[in-house]
Amino acid sequence: MKSRIDAILRREQAEYLDSLLPPRDPLLAAMEKFAADENHPIADAEVAQLMQVLLRLKTPRHILEVGTNIGYSVVVMGRECDRGAIVETIELNPQTLHKAKSFVGDAKLECQVIFHEGAALEVISRLSGPFDFVFIDCVKTEYGDYLDQLLPKLQQGALIVCDNLLWKGEVAAAPREGEEPSATALRIFNHRITTDPRLLTSILPMSDGIGLSVVL
Ligand SMILES: C[S@@+](CC[C@H](N)C(=O)[O-])C[C@H]1O[C@@H](n2cnc3c(N)ncnc32)[C@H](O)[C@@H]1O
Repeated sequence: MKSRIDAILRREQAEYLDSLLPPRDPLLAAMEKFAADENHPIADAEVAQLMQVLLRLKTPRHILEVGTNIGYSVVVMGRECDRGAIVETIELNPQTLHKAKSFVGDAKLECQVIFHEGAALEVISRLSGPFDFVFIDCVKTEYGDYLDQLLPKLQQGALIVCDNLLWKGEVAAAPREGEEPSATALRIFNHRITTDPRLLTSILPMSDGIGLSVVL
């Protein structure tokens, strides 16, 4: 979720692109309203749209999401999966996870959804994978640790999608004393995913910055 519409793109571009997004169905609209009313940081609608395109191309069998929140992205991803696919998702907050289970139940997905309650780093260490699609959308200072834990559990050709890589526009600014730890951590993470020989990465300046990395 971006902090300001013009934090990354110029306002005119961002508003124009927003105007091209398709209308949401009643469930996603209700989830977006709930998130806005209750201040839950779900993915932006343009990220949801991008995920749909990526999933339609890739047809993954085993998805891992780091950071469930109210299950908005689980619904978006799950709708692109058929009966044989599995979506696993991790959330620290039990009340938030309870809400996610309720919304995801309403979606009546064909695929299996496995909810994990706990700290992402602790949960990932217990998962065996292999995963072919990962959505990282959790603690920004931990993105590098998620990647360390996940790389051995990813198939060749797996796609890693990371949200908020430009973090309110702060990541591209010159490092400064007292900046948010998330900005510092994401600057390091972005350098890593764009230079690691095991990954092929593109970072898109949409929403709050989206990373797409293919495991080579
Ligand atoms: C940005 S939200 C996820 C949004 C979700 N992917 C979506 O688009 O609908 C990040 C979530 O991670 C959860 N979280 C925070 N710290 C965590 C941790 N250490 N382990 C697992 N989840 C955590 C937060 O409670 C929050 O719900």
